[in-house]
Amino acid sequence: MPDDTPTDRAAPSASLTIERVAHRYGGSVALEQISVDVAGGELLSLLGPSGCGKTTLLRIIGGFIRQSAGRILVGGQPVDHLPANKRTVGIVFQNYALFPHMTVARNIAYGLEARRTPHAQITARVAEMLAMVRLEHLRDRLPRELSGGQQQRVALARALAVRPSILLLDEPFAALDKNLRLDMQIEVKRIQRLSGTTTILVTHDQEEALSLSDRIAVLNQGRLEQLATPTEIYDRPASLFVNRFVGTANMLPGVLVSADAGGSVVALDDGTRIAARAPTEKLIPGDPVAVCIRPEHLRMVPSGEGIRGTVEMGLPLGATIVHEIRTLSGHAIKIAEPRQTGMEPRLAGSAIALLPTQPGAVGVFRPAAPS
Ligand SMILES: Nc1ncnc2c1ncn2[C@@H]1O[C@H](COP(=O)(O)OP(=O)(O)O)[C@@H](O)[C@H]1O
Ligand SMILES: [Mg+2]
Repeated sequence: MPDDTPTDRAAPSASLTIERVAHRYGGSVALEQISVDVAGGELLSLLGPSGCGKTTLLRIIGGFIRQSAGRILVGGQPVDHLPANKRTVGIVFQNYALFPHMTVARNIAYGLEARRTPHAQITARVAEMLAMVRLEHLRDRLPRELSGGQQQRVALARALAVRPSILLLDEPFAALDKNLRLDMQIEVKRIQRLSGTTTILVTHDQEEALSLSDRIAVLNQGRLEQLATPTEIYDRPASLFVNRFVGTANMLPGVLVSADAGGSVVALDDGTRIAARAPTEKLIPGDPVAVCIRPEHLRMVPSGEGIRGTVEMGLPLGATIVHEIRTLSGHAIKIAEPRQTGMEPRLAGSAIALLPTQPGAVGVFRPAAPS
């Protein structure tokens, strides 16, 4: 039987183009020109601290806010003239916003009923969605009779029931406690893969962005700092902000000695010279720089070479062992090493020396502006 109802025609896996989108609320700038191309079926995270503009950008894509400048295209077609209810987007808000007086099944059916989908098709689609989020047994419950994780799955099923071409998720895990959050992250990833829906996930949680995304857009004060895959963001952060916001970073002040496309050399304030990645920003020899090395990218070396310091505390964390070090020039840094069976932390006060495991693990950035 041919199936040509409006809900079945909306193309899943549409691409999304954010083209030089900027937004101001009154006089204050919330987003500077942002351009991102999202491929059909891709899961892109918008990652950044509170207030950086994530929700504003998500609401512009959904048609709930009209941007001050720039265009939004879905499947290559501009949608800026369309109100939210005419765009083929599904949105899950942070608090899920289920209809409290409707059962699970009626909540999921809501969007289809609003589109006057034939009854038999609604029944079939609701059954399909209940199976996808594994809630068949709870179809007649009210939202208040569900756990947080179950409510979230209903919200997801409701958003996906109308076959949106773009799924928008605004901090969808923030209200869940930690154990449930991990289960739900895996669940959402499974459902996103299964439905093949292009998805924009807003989060301030770097681990969540790293584990779920195909690519991450890191936002800072309304600016796009970096757009890349999770491993690129972690291994080759484009700025000091990204290096500090994603993962843990030791930061040491230094001066750039030399740099070319292949790499650079920096001098730390204790005189130690270190080979590093080539800076991604415009920096010239003699410039003050911030040198970033993650704790797992440091190793202990015989004293006489490397960055010298003393152990302040040793923490045997099971699989890893972490030492907090105070360098001779007074900086606090952490080193994390795999812990072998029986390995004990070094005593506080022990003198040690450290070097990076490899130049590629050392980032060189323009220092943060004094605040
Ligand atoms: N309706 C509004 N009116 C004025 N300013 C707003 C409004 N909504 C958000 N803002 C401001 O815009 C900036 C970005 O907000 P938002 O997009 O909500 O950030 P995020 O979701 O990353 O926390 C913040 O400085 C916020 O205070
Ligand atoms: Mg927000």
